[in-house]
Amino acid sequence: MTTDLIVTTSSGSYPVVVAAGALASLPARLAALGLRGTLWLVSDAAVATAYGTPLADRLQAAGFRVQRHAVPSGEASKSQDQLWRLYDWLLGAGVERRDAVLALGGGVIGDLAGYAAASVLRGIALIQLPTTLLAMVDAAVGGKTGINHPLGKNLIGAFHQPRLVLADTETLASLPRRELCAGWAEVIKHGVIRDAGLFSELEQLAAEQDWGAGGFRGWQSADARLTERLTAIIRRAVAVKVEVVSRDEREQGERITLNYGHTLGHAIEALTDDWALLHGEAVAVGMHAAARIAVAMGLCSAELVARQRRLLQAYGLQVALPHGLDPEAVLAVALRDKKVLAGRIRWVLPTALGSVVVRDDVPEALVRAVLAS
Ligand code: GLY
Repeated sequence: MTTDLIVTTSSGSYPVVVAAGALASLPARLAALGLRGTLWLVSDAAVATAYGTPLADRLQAAGFRVQRHAVPSGEASKSQDQLWRLYDWLLGAGVERRDAVLALGGGVIGDLAGYAAASVLRGIALIQLPTTLLAMVDAAVGGKTGINHPLGKNLIGAFHQPRLVLADTETLASLPRRELCAGWAEVIKHGVIRDAGLFSELEQLAAEQDWGAGGFRGWQSADARLTERLTAIIRRAVAVKVEVVSRDEREQGERITLNYGHTLGHAIEALTDDWALLHGEAVAVGMHAAARIAVAMGLCSAELVARQRRLLQAYGLQVALPHGLDPEAVLAVALRDKKVLAGRIRWVLPTALGSVVVRDDVPEALVRAVLAS
């Protein structure tokens, strides 16, 4: 039994629960929050049957009224069309201010359903129930919600903090290995930016396991000790996000450090055939490039780059720029990123494991050279 992590924000604080089997505690936790209205359960179509149905049954058995809606899997669902379908469903069936939206799925569901909760009736309660590693460690915590615009990702949205985040790590057992590996990129990122001990734990686990050349094999739910170990590691990574967003809810300062690897990662993701590279996969490439930029700027050692590369590979991630991608095009897209300030990219660069700086004076020629080599 672990204590809840707590996010503190200007609009109050909320618990973040990371545990195997945590979904069983949802009815009691909702009751403790005083949420007595209808629960609008939005789930990813891929998890609607496996987790949505038993969850709805459990909530109904506990006396809650539940309405359900499934959203097609994939980034394309973070769209105006899917958002409007949610509004039609919520408003058509009489949503009220005291109700809550439950977002069950990965980052797409959390962002889309979160934005519907932020905007319908000028905002109703939101509960984040992430079922992917990426969403547990990053997207579900911190209140960012929104949809994509044809001109870029996440350009329409709002900060809307959830009342509760409940991450049941048992749901990761059914997640495809590729998606799990993509999630490890964010876990490793949290180690690099703020928690050297987490980085070492990940190294130690990889050294103990016999994963072979391809790295991390997937979640073996039959291995209870491994599940417990992985859950503890994930919780430690989530704690980094909780601390950062509690100190900088609106991204006025420190929160941008969560963007480590994302400047180039987002550009690579956008340039690889209709988001064919998973977000975490692109972030891993971006982290490797950012660390190499840091070495070239004299900010960190080459040993950090090597350790980070070995760890990313151990968790099934590639670090090389995808074949055929033009470094010039990557740089051009990175310059359009919404985190660019006054035309200068704000780079998050490591100085040591567990510590980063934000710099806007990285020469473009250096970025080109790193991407080209
Ligand atoms: N995903 C980065 C953040 O929440 O700020």
